Amino acid sequence: MGLAAAAILTATVAAAQNLDAGKPPAKLFADGCATCHRSPRGLAKGRFSLTLSWFLKDHYATSSDSAKVLAAYLESVDEPPPGAAAKPAKKPARKPARSAPRPPKPAQSQ
Ligand code: HEC
Repeated sequence: MGLAAAAILTATVAAAQNLDAGKPPAKLFADGCATCHRSPRGLAKGRFSLTLSWFLKDHYATSSDSAKVLAAYLESVDEPPPGAAAKPAKKPARKPARSAPRPPKPAQSQ
């Protein structure tokens, strides 16, 4: 009985470890980063994924694999770089109206 329980426990632990290794990046973030970073958005800040994974490896001592995965994830959810979003849609600078605005018609029915 005890042996069976131990076997089951060992199996469960092994499975948990395997799951941990293959965690999807969103889960990695939720587990390890969300305590301090509420949202993964805006963290990548348009950085190159290589720079980003170095940063993650350096600062958070994650394995280089999960650093890469996380970097890719952060990039995928990142907002577009400010330059792209901030630019107003191309509008011609105030074209002069083709016909000058007409004064309102004088009221005739009176
Ligand atoms: C203990 C709190 C804490 C945890 C946990 C944490 N971070 Fe951070 N992180 C910070 C702080 C503080 C900064 C510095 C913020 C700044 O410079 O604006 C930072 C900065 C960053 C930056 C750079 C942001 C920038 O503005 O340059 C990235 C990317 C980042 N963290 C990703 C992660 C990821 C991915 C994880 C999970 C593996 C994580 N962080 C976990 C506290 C944390």
